[in-house]
Amino acid sequence: MKLWGGRFKKSESKIMEDFNSSLGFDNRLYKEDIEGSMAHVRMLAKCKILSQEEGKDILEGLKSILEDIENGNLKVEGDYEDIHSFVEINLLNRIGQVAKKLHTARSRNDQVAVDLRLYVKREALEVVQSIEILQNTIKDLGELNNVIMPGYTHLQRAQVITFKHYIMAYYSMLSRDKTRILNAVEIMDESPLGCCALAGTTYNIDRYFTAKELGFRKPVDNFLDGVSDRDYVIEMLSDFSIIIMHLSRLSEELILWSSKEFDFVQIDDEFSTGSSIMPQKKNPDAAELIRGKTGRVYGSLMSLLTTMKGIPLAYNKDMQEDKEQFFNSLDTILSCLKVMNGILSTLKIKKDNTFNAVKKGFLNATEAADYLVGKGMAFRDAHKVIGEIVLYCEDKNKSIEDLPLDELKNFSTLFAEDIYEFIDYKNTLNRGIKKNLK
Ligand code: ARG
Repeated sequence: MKLWGGRFKKSESKIMEDFNSSLGFDNRLYKEDIEGSMAHVRMLAKCKILSQEEGKDILEGLKSILEDIENGNLKVEGDYEDIHSFVEINLLNRIGQVAKKLHTARSRNDQVAVDLRLYVKREALEVVQSIEILQNTIKDLGELNNVIMPGYTHLQRAQVITFKHYIMAYYSMLSRDKTRILNAVEIMDESPLGCCALAGTTYNIDRYFTAKELGFRKPVDNFLDGVSDRDYVIEMLSDFSIIIMHLSRLSEELILWSSKEFDFVQIDDEFSTGSSIMPQKKNPDAAELIRGKTGRVYGSLMSLLTTMKGIPLAYNKDMQEDKEQFFNSLDTILSCLKVMNGILSTLKIKKDNTFNAVKKGFLNATEAADYLVGKGMAFRDAHKVIGEIVLYCEDKNKSIEDLPLDELKNFSTLFAEDIYEFIDYKNTLNRGIKKNLK
């Protein structure tokens, strides 16, 4: 069933029909498609392009289709080219000939453009909500675990920090992710409805009216651009790519931390799996899957960038490829945010182990050098002295604070009794992270 065919002598090959059809995936846009059509019809009636009576009949028909889809009485499937054909042909079956007036002063090009913008805008706000939920979990986890742990550079123990400070780094990343999405929504917040095929229309339509009805800030400025702009999908995919990159880094940390080599955290049974052969195994599959799915989100971004790169203005069918990429990435992002939220809200931090790692890692070495600087030594010299102490301690399997004062004095006479308090891990934290943060 098609919306076109008048100028054709032969019917379309079945192979072509299957290749061309998008209903299998754009069925997700049914709500936006019907909303877009309703706004269009209200505008046509207001501008007297349709009579009030015609407008009312079409609106009622569209409303009944929406209701039936939502309550399960009408399945969005069958032998239709796309969601737009599905809705229009169903409308014709329901209300008869007047349905044929719905598509006055409109093309499927501006129709699909407005449907997708509405959908992307809405779902972007869903993503923002899921980000906020994850951020709250991160905050709670940090508050509950204001415990000492090693911080790393080059994956080598570096300086003492708290788990709270560590995990709140991801909170900051997610804050930026949220802002990025909201910025993208602001940029895309223009209605393409009324651009028609590419050149607008000679009917006296009111694009400001439909833009307002559909909750857009304004109509787009240029018709050709309006129907062929997919920047907002690409921008959203790029924002999703950054989010999943952050989630992937966090997943990597969780995978490392839950290994016996680190043993800093315990991932709950609810978010772990076992091995079919090795009875002792508990695997961090949830985190691994998030890390793995990063590939598919980056892939969507590259895919759509490539699809769009050689397309002349205005609409070309290539653009139908935008939807599957966006839907796939959206589903992935939403499920990864949810699963990460599950992992973190059930995560246990092994604070004895994180503390022992601090103690074994000479994580107060920088502070010990700062101590000597406070006593008048130049930092470079202090760096060297403490380096020698570390070497000595490694040999004796001791920490700096384990050395008695007379031993320390062998390295520098500037050491005095107050060194122990100065390099105490908690005091270090109080002077550093706590003092410099709100
Ligand atoms: N399924 C099409 C898409 O997703 C809808 C627009 C069709 N427009 C057209 N001129 N064939 O892009």
